[in-house]
Amino acid sequence: MTPEIFVKARSTLFIPSMTENTFPNIIQNTTGFQSLTETINWLQAESFDLKKNLSTSGVLLFRGFPVSSAEDFDSFSSAFNYGEFTYQESLSNAVRINKTPKVFTANEAPADVEIFLHHEMAQTPSYPEKIFFCCLSPASKGGETPVCRSDKVFNELSEKHPKWLSKFESLGLKYTTVMPPSDELNSGQGRGWRSTLSVYDEKEAEEKLKALGYSWKWLKDKSLLATSPALPAISVLPDGSKSFFNQIIAAYRGWKTLENSSVPPVTFGDGEFIEENILNSIVAIASRFTTLLEWKTGDVALVDNRRVMHGRHPYSGVNKREVLVSLARDS
Ligand SMILES: [Fe+2]
Repeated sequence: MTPEIFVKARSTLFIPSMTENTFPNIIQNTTGFQSLTETINWLQAESFDLKKNLSTSGVLLFRGFPVSSAEDFDSFSSAFNYGEFTYQESLSNAVRINKTPKVFTANEAPADVEIFLHHEMAQTPSYPEKIFFCCLSPASKGGETPVCRSDKVFNELSEKHPKWLSKFESLGLKYTTVMPPSDELNSGQGRGWRSTLSVYDEKEAEEKLKALGYSWKWLKDKSLLATSPALPAISVLPDGSKSFFNQIIAAYRGWKTLENSSVPPVTFGDGEFIEENILNSIVAIASRFTTLLEWKTGDVALVDNRRVMHGRHPYSGVNKREVLVSLARDS
């Protein structure tokens, strides 16, 4: 990168859009980087400021940059030099397909399935701190990615429902999921237990679950019903603010409940049921702090997974929606 491009990039591309209240913070390629190499050099040079801005804005949306393949996206996301978080090692319940070792499809759930707001893998003991999305092809209709500021959800809950919030904070949450014997593509949570747990047989699965503090039950169809240990419902962010960091909304609205079972997908950490009126209130509050990422070809979004929830709207039309994901650790 020449010094000229670097100066131009600093002065016209990024700095003017760096305001804390912009959500998402859209960074346009107004300088007109034509090559991926120029773009990556610029990202590396600016990564400190970009990360600083992300820590307050929650989402950076890069638009108009030359990103047109999974390999380009891999290079783009690698420029930030975060630590790796692979799909294989995760306990994600979504079915995904790897495109490169660190880039995979967002979720193979059918187009008409809505994926409700959630923090990525907050229902498991291990989660990525950052998520990159890349749109290679937007849907003809719908398919937006809603993003929601969970720090603002926390603040509103602390004003409107302080007793409930302190209960969430002190007890945490338990999640109950059903993992099929093999991957099911017709669901947003269809990843089979062998793949989810990276195991080959029932014995190995049980050993893994035991080590992670889960309880479990094998069902007649060889599915696995697993209940997590109590996991935090609130996260303290690096700046000291708090975030309503969990999967309550997705579990309440989207996860299938087990037939003939009275156990809901999410309860307090001691097993107590969460009342429906508070669940509905959480959904309503979150909707007020949600905005949509309306994808354009080549968009890359960087999401702070601890501050911001995301989801996926249903979609339709002739265009095949192609949105890829890469997960990352802070270091
Ligand atoms: Fe997700």
